[in-house]
Amino acid sequence: MQRTFSILKPDTVRKGQTGAVLAMMEAAGFRIAAIKKLSISKQQAAGFYAVHAQRSFFDSLTTFMSSGPIFVMVLEKENAIADLRKLMGATNPANAEEGTIRKKFAGSIEENAVHGSDAEETAAFEIGYFFAGYELA
Ligand code: CMP
Repeated sequence: MQRTFSILKPDTVRKGQTGAVLAMMEAAGFRIAAIKKLSISKQQAAGFYAVHAQRSFFDSLTTFMSSGPIFVMVLEKENAIADLRKLMGATNPANAEEGTIRKKFAGSIEENAVHGSDAEETAAFEIGYFFAGYELA
């Protein structure tokens, strides 16, 4: 069993697509180990996306991620990290395959509905950024 970290981004929550995206995750075999709704500041978004600090889209991305409520969650499944990336589809919805979350729900490369960890070390950092140990016991 492997854990990964995911965010339903402000666009998903604003458009009332939270339930539909969670249903796709559960239908794909993910168990929701922990989930919570919160709003983050621009500074908290910057901490989460620190690896992208030098990218041209960083300011816009952190503004977007702090623009409204999000759901952060820990998902469990065998091969969870790779399988979630596959279920999400390409970062740019224009390149996302049929049947993926981003093909169905994402509006743009920035407002792309969902986030998922890209590797084990990233998942550990991202889970630890939003969840305390007791929330996952
Ligand atoms: P995510 O998988 O959360 O990882 C980094 C995020 O930055 C990405 O999804 C998009 O929301 C955003 N992003 C990545 N590339 C671009 C880009 N070229 N322009 C704007 N936003 C981007």
